[in-house]
Amino acid sequence: MEQDQSIHRKMIWTIGGGKGGSGKSFITANMGVCLSKLGVRVVLIDADLGGANLHTFLGISPPALSLSDFIKKRVSHLREVLIPTAVPNLQLLTGAQDLLNAVDAKSVQKRKLVRSIQSLDSDTILVDLGGGNSLSVLDFFLMSDGGILVVTPEPTSIENTYRFLKSAFYRRLKQSVCCSSVKALIDDALDRKNEMGIQNPHDLIRAVRQIDEEDAQRIVEEVKTFRPNLVLNQVRSKKDIEIGFSIRSACLKYFGIHLHYLGYVVYDQEVSRSIRRKRPLVLENSGSRAAQCVMEIASKLANSHSMANRD
Ligand SMILES: Nc1ncnc2c1ncn2[C@@H]1O[C@H](COP(=O)(O)OP(=O)(O)OP(=O)(O)O)[C@@H](O)[C@H]1O
Ligand SMILES: [Mg+2]
Repeated sequence: MEQDQSIHRKMIWTIGGGKGGSGKSFITANMGVCLSKLGVRVVLIDADLGGANLHTFLGISPPALSLSDFIKKRVSHLREVLIPTAVPNLQLLTGAQDLLNAVDAKSVQKRKLVRSIQSLDSDTILVDLGGGNSLSVLDFFLMSDGGILVVTPEPTSIENTYRFLKSAFYRRLKQSVCCSSVKALIDDALDRKNEMGIQNPHDLIRAVRQIDEEDAQRIVEEVKTFRPNLVLNQVRSKKDIEIGFSIRSACLKYFGIHLHYLGYVVYDQEVSRSIRRKRPLVLENSGSRAAQCVMEIASKLANSHSMANRD
């Protein structure tokens, strides 16, 4: 088992951020189908607090078994609560409330849960985080190998994305430092009107250097390695596509965050049609423009998975 894991590194992707209705669940479900068709063994985890609906995107009734059966020890292994889907290589796990309650607890428990998820017999795990940015959602986003933000070209969606990214980033910085006064400084820095005038990670590093050089160095490392991904959904024009690049530039300029623009998905009436039929778009109408976009993004994920396995 251990030997197998060293050969085959598992990738956990979390899909979140943005605004309610931006298309997180549609993209998660359809990317899962695409990856499984590429021969990748996929588990989809529905961690959307109060709004779990990934099963419907796959044409499955609300599952009787969920993560709560594992947490409450009604089953001994997480694999026992996995739901098979009609798509080969694709399984589903619903977690909702229990998942987030569990990760809200102690960080030891959070890590234990992540380890249980990592121990699942699959190549890729896609977690639909839903729309919130509670601390547990941020932690799950930060614990994954890759966080994907789904944003639409609307200013409100973009605004939510910046807020999510900034909260996640500063939380990660806070987790990386040791000194309590540096942690307090990071909390202050989250407030845009902070007294120290800290507006971005560079200002923060300068201020932290005056308190603790080692913590400053830790922040430098975190800034280098924080690489979230962006998918722009419901794109209606070429101008909309450019918004992804503008968000990427703004993240770098104002937050010092290196955001990777993974791709875009066009607005397409076929999306809604496929949801009403409870059939994943990439199966129902694989030739549609939105399906083609999702397939392209999924193949990028598959490539990064095989690159991670090569490393
Ligand atoms: N590319 C698209 N083209 C057209 N419509 C889309 C597209 N993506 C999503 N939609 C529409 O947006 C609706 C919401 O999508 P979805 O449920 O995936 O959003 P969500 O981000 O998961 O929402 P929530 O935050 O509430 O969970 C869908 O029912 C669909 O009709
Ligand atoms: Mg959703």
